[in-house]
This record gives sequence, C-alpha cells and structure tokens, in this order.
Amino acid sequence: REKGWTTEYMYQYQGFWYLSTTGVEGVMRVQKHFKARNEDILLATLPKSGTTWFKPLIFAIMNRGRCDFATHPVLTTSPHDLVPPLENYFHQNIAYPNLDSLSSPQLLFHTHISFTSLPQSVINSQGRIVYVCRNPKDVFVSTFYFLNRMADKNVEPLSVEEAFEQFCKGVSFYGPFWDHVLGYWKASLEWPERVLFMKYEDMKKDSPFHLKRLAEFMGCPFSSEEERQGVVHEILKLCSFENLSNLKVNNTGTFQLGTRKIGKHIFFRQGEVGDWRNHLTNDMVDRLNKIVEQKLSGSGLTFHDSV
Ligand code: A3P
Repeated sequence: REKGWTTEYMYQYQGFWYLSTTGVEGVMRVQKHFKARNEDILLATLPKSGTTWFKPLIFAIMNRGRCDFATHPVLTTSPHDLVPPLENYFHQNIAYPNLDSLSSPQLLFHTHISFTSLPQSVINSQGRIVYVCRNPKDVFVSTFYFLNRMADKNVEPLSVEEAFEQFCKGVSFYGPFWDHVLGYWKASLEWPERVLFMKYEDMKKDSPFHLKRLAEFMGCPFSSEEERQGVVHEILKLCSFENLSNLKVNNTGTFQLGTRKIGKHIFFRQGEVGDWRNHLTNDMVDRLNKIVEQKLSGSGLTFHDSV
C-alpha cells in the first residue's frame, strides 16, 4: 500500500498500482470471468493517454457503414458506453454480463490492465489489441489534474512535487508508466498482427495516416471510394476534441468509475501535446527524462514531447 495522489491509497497487484475505487478487485474479476472472442478488439491504455479520443475513433471506424454522420451514436453516447471499460464493467456488475448475448458480431472493449496481467483468454484468443500511449510528461500532468478534480473537496490532495515523486517511483495510476508501455511494446514487436502500438502524438500530427493504419489493423481498411467521399475526414471531425468536449452527453452528468461517480466533463481538459512545459520545472523534466531513458534503454521505444 502506498499513498495515492489524492485521498485514496494505491495498492500494488502483480507489479502495478491501482486506486482503491477503480482497483484491484475489478482487475481480478476480469481475469477470472472475461471470455475473449477471436473477433474482439481490445483498446488498451494507461489512463490519460487519450482513451476518450480513441474509443469513438475505433467505434466510428468499425460502424461506419451503419451510421449516418448527422445522427451518429458518438453524438449522443458517452465514449465510455460506446466502448466499455472491462475492469469497471466487471466491478459494477455483480451478476456478470453475458457478453455472448450482445448482438454485435465484433465487440469493442477497453482496459487499463497491463499486458502481463491480461486475462489468459485474451492471450489465447485471436482477438486484436490496440495500445495507445502518450509521452510520460503529459501523462503525468493530465493524471495530476484528473485525480485532483476527482478528489473529495474536503481533503488536501498531493502537491505537484509530491505526486511527481510518486510518479518517478513508479507509483502512479496503473503504473509504473514504463512497465505498462514496455509490456505492450514488446508484445507488438512479437505479435504485430495482434497488437498495434500507437502514440497519441502521432495521431495528433498526422491524423488521416494513423486513422487509416488503425482501420487496416482492425481488419476494415478504408476503400478508395470512401477516401474520395471524405469518410476519414468525417470521422476525425466527429471525434475531435472540440466536437466531443462540446457535446451535452460528454459535458454533463456523471460516470460510474468503480465505486465512485465522477463528472463526465473531467475526461476533457486541453487535448494538446506539450502542456507539461507549463507545469514541470527544468529539474523535473531532466529527472523524468533520465528515468524514462534508462527504463526504456535498448527497447527501441521513444516518445515525442511535442508535435
Ligand atoms: P489532457 O488532460 O492533457 O487535456 P484518457 O481518456 O486516457 O483519460 O485521456 C484524457 C486526455 O485525453 C486528456 O488530456 C483529454 O483532454 C484528452 N482528450 C480527450 N478527448 C480528446 C480528443 N478528442 N482529442 C485529443 N485529446 C483528447
């Protein structure tokens, strides 16, 4: 048990840190009960890496033949309902959902679980995994704001400096950051047809290229006719930060995260690359850069700090 970043403690399970609200219990239930299918697509991320963006993107890619852009489900359904988070889903449902009875032939799920803790049935199936990561400095800043906005109002949260210490020690939301990204990075090198490794910054920089790469991996590439009709552009516009953050379904109401209800609007803050420059001192940047460099050394994985 370690001091969490807010009022809660974090607990370590199989080498990774979990908050008590969203925590270990949900992960264990997923490991025990989730039955992956060969057709599934699992979006895996560390929190604050752009999950809320990639959920509607993969949903819109998958369902593009069935949905009209003017009345699209993304306009009226929260990303977290479009692509349900597995550990949360199993946490809330005491009577476990019968996933086999869901009608879609291809199911989209999301998880924050590390590669090494994924349920055996995911590893044994032929299902595909899309992993999205983001540079660690922006993940740190985004997590800090998120956990502070989520914290109880009457309790003093950790300062940036204290939270940074914890992050550098590896004690962070589903962290250590480096172990999480490395697990999926290595899996993507070993099973490129099953694990696609993507970066938030790449999607920001060249969205059409990376959206097409994503669709191809998911087994539903865009046809040249669709490209001519501007479907790629329509999907990107639909899922842009500006569009999503201004939708009523995303900026009002609450979302059940484990045992807590949190405002849906807190999943949207800036949606930019490089905000760490406004929050971290030079010493903090040097220290985190060195830790990450050392942890990732020899892996071939690097991060973009800006676009
Ligand atoms: P910031 O706090 O840096 O703004 P997650 O969904 O994994 O929790 O990640 C949340 C981060 O993604 C937040 O980052 C949020 O603003 C950003 N985000 C949400 N929707 C986005 C979108 N459509 N495009 C780009 N970034 C988005």
